Amino acid sequence: MEEQRERLEGELLAAIAAAADLRALEEIRVRALGRRGEVTALAKAVGRLPPEERRAAGQAVNALKRTVEEAIARRRAELERIELERRLARERIDVTLPPRPRPEGRVHPVSQVTEEIVAILADMGFAVAEGPDVEDDYHNFTALNIPPEHPARQMQDTFFLEAEEEGAPLLLRTHTSPVQIRTMLAGRPPFRIIAPGRVYRRDYDMTHTPMFHQVEGLLIDRRTHMGHLKGCLIDFVRAFFERDDIPVRFRPSFFPFTEPSAEMDIGCRRGKGQLVVGAGDDWLEILGCGMVHPRVLEGVGLEPDVWQGFAFGLGIDRLAMLKYGIPDLRTFFEGDLRWLRHYGFVPLDIPTTYGGLSR
Ligand code: PHE
Repeated sequence: MEEQRERLEGELLAAIAAAADLRALEEIRVRALGRRGEVTALAKAVGRLPPEERRAAGQAVNALKRTVEEAIARRRAELERIELERRLARERIDVTLPPRPRPEGRVHPVSQVTEEIVAILADMGFAVAEGPDVEDDYHNFTALNIPPEHPARQMQDTFFLEAEEEGAPLLLRTHTSPVQIRTMLAGRPPFRIIAPGRVYRRDYDMTHTPMFHQVEGLLIDRRTHMGHLKGCLIDFVRAFFERDDIPVRFRPSFFPFTEPSAEMDIGCRRGKGQLVVGAGDDWLEILGCGMVHPRVLEGVGLEPDVWQGFAFGLGIDRLAMLKYGIPDLRTFFEGDLRWLRHYGFVPLDIPTTYGGLSR
């Protein structure tokens, strides 16, 4: 056995030293130390020796195993180094080559415009608030003083869900105004919040999609009046369209949750499938607004003689179409990458003109 061991050691060490590459070395390792390897077979043979010989023979075979393992590890390191040197000599990096373009995403106009709007209003002191897309009847309608016979409550305007809560079906919020209610119930006045988010209505044409985006604004304080509302919104559109001379007008309107209510229009010129904002003698509606209705205030436990305020709801998508000249609202949500590449924004970290949020 001793003889066999010595012969094997000689053979294996020679083979290891001669292994030309890592593959060959691995083959030798398996042949020697694998489950059916020669060293392994020798170790098994030790068990068949007479008891008095086993100890010495076992130690000898273990020593052989270690010797072979070490030799393999050394040869492997050597081969790896040789391989690396070969690659370094063969491969070269040409630093003068132009870089391969990296795929770069675009910021969707809705995201971009949301950030612009939030930046302007945040500068005026409004904090961002949020509410759920799935609302209940109370927050979306009842608390906003919307009576049962109001058209918004009908099936043709609102997406109702099958699930019910307190006897009334849940629904997809039809506006961001429920966030007003949630805000006033959750905190104490004064309030100054904006709530950007998705809203849902059963509508579909060039300027309507079943899902679109609004920003709600709510300001509640002592002695707030319509002048504050007008000043705030006029400043807002001027900052948003980046023009100080943009014509605006407030038209009397109706919302169950504001009194008085108004719609704000901006001056524009229409013609030949084009719409130019800030000039001409035509008007375009961009938002609804008004002084928060006393019944809404009472409903959330605020005394209308002490606390008053204004609210507004503006359509983000509509503003995006106007500011960036995008003619069809439906294209916003078709997920066409060519469209996004054309109308989207490069995500650069450049501050906006108002120094607000830009990410
Ligand atoms: N919630 C109204 C709408 O979606 C807009 C609005 C908000 C009007 C706040 C007045 C005050 O049409």
